[in-house]
Amino acid sequence: MRLDEFEAADDVSVNPSTEPPIGELISRRTVLKGMAAFGLFGQMSGCASSGSSQSGVDGSAPLTFTEVGRTKDDKHHLAPGYNAQVLIRQGDPIRKGGPLYRPAQQTAAEQEAQFGTDNDFIAYMPLPRGSNNSTRGLLGVNHENHRANLCFPRWDAKVPLTRAQCEVQMAAQGFSVLEIAKEGNQWRVVEESAYNRRISTNTPMRISGPAAGSARMQTSADPSGTRSFGTFNNCAGGWTPWGTMLTAEENVQQYFVGDPTKGPEAAARRRYNISGRGRYSDWGQYFERFNLDKEPNEPNRFGWIVEIDPYEPGSTPVKRTALGRNAHECATMALSHDGRVAFYMGDDARMEFVYKFVTEGRFDPANLAANRDLMDRGTLYAARFEANGKMRWLPLVYGQGPLTAVNGFHSQADVVIEARRAGTLVGATPMDRPEDVEAHPVTGRVYVVLTYNEQRKPDQVDVANPRGPNKHGHIIEIVPPLVGGKPDHAATECDWGFFLLGGDPKVGEHAARYASPVSANGWLAAPDNVAFDPKGRIWISTDGQDDWAGFNDSLYGATVSGPNRGATRAFFNGPSGCEICGPCFTPDGRTLFLAVQHPGDDKGSTFEKPSTRWPDFKGDMPPRSAVLAITRSDGGEIGG
Ligand code: FEO
Ligand code: CA
Ligand code: CA
Repeated sequence: MRLDEFEAADDVSVNPSTEPPIGELISRRTVLKGMAAFGLFGQMSGCASSGSSQSGVDGSAPLTFTEVGRTKDDKHHLAPGYNAQVLIRQGDPIRKGGPLYRPAQQTAAEQEAQFGTDNDFIAYMPLPRGSNNSTRGLLGVNHENHRANLCFPRWDAKVPLTRAQCEVQMAAQGFSVLEIAKEGNQWRVVEESAYNRRISTNTPMRISGPAAGSARMQTSADPSGTRSFGTFNNCAGGWTPWGTMLTAEENVQQYFVGDPTKGPEAAARRRYNISGRGRYSDWGQYFERFNLDKEPNEPNRFGWIVEIDPYEPGSTPVKRTALGRNAHECATMALSHDGRVAFYMGDDARMEFVYKFVTEGRFDPANLAANRDLMDRGTLYAARFEANGKMRWLPLVYGQGPLTAVNGFHSQADVVIEARRAGTLVGATPMDRPEDVEAHPVTGRVYVVLTYNEQRKPDQVDVANPRGPNKHGHIIEIVPPLVGGKPDHAATECDWGFFLLGGDPKVGEHAARYASPVSANGWLAAPDNVAFDPKGRIWISTDGQDDWAGFNDSLYGATVSGPNRGATRAFFNGPSGCEICGPCFTPDGRTLFLAVQHPGDDKGSTFEKPSTRWPDFKGDMPPRSAVLAITRSDGGEIGG
């Protein structure tokens, strides 16, 4: 989500422990000097050996596209020699014969049969299952928000939404599964496919893991605490090696009304920023479950990682509570040396933590069904970065260290429901809004994207967050140890350094740093999502460049090793008001799916007078979030 009135109001730091631990409180100058001393911007020790021996996939292959220049207009712009096709947009029917988008009269039933709003994360899984097919597959797409000012005619901030409008908003968020096919260089949604499916705020879900059945998860609609209805604010996500997709519930604090200060959940709500108001405050007028006074536990049933099986259209999504509860950006998978599976996660709020979950069991590629509940048992960790170039993963386990009854934890259910407070108690490092956290598929290095934190004060800088304020964001690289030449993603002690400090390196005040020189068009701000192409190069999309750098949000590519390591290059710019999300490559690297989210989300922009009508520029249509399929005109690999 971009910086807007709701985020500015709601997403203030509520972490009481934002003081860096003693020993980490060092001046920015010392930090920057320290970086040079550790050589963190160059090839770190162990880098060359941290990859597999596969050549060409270590992310060193040069990117050959011509950079796109800075833009701030109502259109998108793409490197020359590439095409961007609109694959699907908000309101498009997901099945043959489905309801066409009628923005002025849209009903919830129509929206449930249409592609949702605010597309963010994208996953591509080939058909048939287990193949590498790059011309037919299943696309999973998140729908993060619904913007009443752009979607509803005659919207007035002072007039509450009607029940019917709230129902449309509930139907518009969640997730879509679509079968897609490529013919020539063109993609299409296979509208007759039985796989096509919408998941929304109304979809029944199972709750599994340590919090399932907890008294704190029980409501009048679900006295068992094991069944919930729906998902919302689905930001980024991930996937599993057994062929399921993961969607992350992010800013769930925006959905509840009532008095947050009453009852036993009051303290926990404070840390989760549940204030009784937010973008979706109107829902609570019509639906009691969003009213804290009526259903005090309902917020505990959101803020989780949800697993969806796209290959089984009738399957029930599962909320995997072992991965903890917070403003989840993502849960990205890394297979460890011994077959255990790690999921890396960012808690996207100012001064919150980076997490990982490591399964107890091992992935069995020969028996997919045996992996089904791997995510229910394992260890959740929060990250602590130290000044000596080491970082530790601190276990959040009931009964260990401070996570006992003395501090109000009576079970692992309490630990996962209040993962943030557990992280504070064990000494995790408060970060500059952790967004995507993703392991390189070959080197195993973990890229931690910190989007920005303009609220960090100069005296709050620490070794891992060296700028206060931090308006441009940065990316950290965690280097897990190798065991038998393979990354150990279960390790609790790793090396770390900076991949980049965003901003313009020519402007001293930005204190920007890149491992290699960047062009005037190539430096970035507000990094959010990352993806790796089949050659192992990193692609970084942004959310907030318009706020902090003065031009529209973009997608950049960069090598991660070799002579130009870390030199970001601009590939795509979005239209006014959007953020760029969900970069996702087909296995052959010849298609890049990209989500353009909330075009036209500019100050004063409305349904009647939007700042853009991207992507179709039709006078009777508002701006619409859309998924682009980007290909090279000559059919070659993206990036060269
Ligand atoms: Fe929804 Fe953290 O961006
Ligand atoms: Ca963001
Ligand atoms: Ca995001």
